[in-house]
Amino acid sequence: MPNPAWVTYEPCVQLAGGRAVPVTTKEEDRWRVIPEAVAELITPKTKMILFNSPSNPCGAVETHDDIRGLADLAKDHNLLVLSDEVYEKIVFDGMKHYSIGAEPGMMDRTITVSGFSKTYAMTGWRMGWLIAPKLIFKGVNKIQQHSITHAVSFAQYGALAALTGSQEPVKMMVKEFQERRDLIMKLIREIPQFHCDVPKGAFYVFPRYDNKMKSDEMAMYLMDKAEVACTGGSSFGSAGEKHLRLSYATNKKNIQDGMERVKKAVA
Ligand SMILES: Cc1ncc(COP(=O)(O)O)c(C=O)c1O
Repeated sequence: MPNPAWVTYEPCVQLAGGRAVPVTTKEEDRWRVIPEAVAELITPKTKMILFNSPSNPCGAVETHDDIRGLADLAKDHNLLVLSDEVYEKIVFDGMKHYSIGAEPGMMDRTITVSGFSKTYAMTGWRMGWLIAPKLIFKGVNKIQQHSITHAVSFAQYGALAALTGSQEPVKMMVKEFQERRDLIMKLIREIPQFHCDVPKGAFYVFPRYDNKMKSDEMAMYLMDKAEVACTGGSSFGSAGEKHLRLSYATNKKNIQDGMERVKKAVA
């Protein structure tokens, strides 16, 4: 699994009795999971490749070549793939999202997870979906039935409306997110101590900053001095140190005002 990555993956792997092996992703690769880097870490004990594109916290989007490379590795080494595609609709600059489960020969070894939280702004409704081979699905169902039992019924009606209704609001929001991304990138470029490549998806920027503070200290400092909540990059893994994750899932005025306060506090 990538490092940095969304905080929940590693505990989930541990809970399942596995060991998460980090694939360090790099700013200069736009934080993509490079198949060659994964290949170097595969051992006879490797069971699964877990990745997330578009990604939280970096906004990285895997290219079709990356996806094909990861699929080849999975087939060559007989691995399962868990692909978290929860930001699948939120891609910018004409980039396309590719599902690894749709690559030839991958359907039987891919577990695709996604949900309503991001595309339909239904965070907190606890609604999502999973696509998996039958054998995996049977195991998942056994645990899910006796822990979660079922999704809340009124939320299911909401999800049904989201899926069957017009998808125009999704298009509008993706356009809006792209504008917010452009705005926050412009404001970040005005802060000499912040450096960031343009993220291609999701709704986060992951700038590197120049100063001695650790990223969790830096996040607390900004909370205190700028009244802006962001997350220290090290929360997502060691490779996130000296970075901050800022979400732009808020309106443009908040982004503008918040970043002005960040600029002042950093200065
Ligand atoms: C990469 C990623 N996967 C999954 C989720 C979880 O989404 P939910 O539990 O709301 O469906 C999040 C939420 O932030 C996320 O960033």
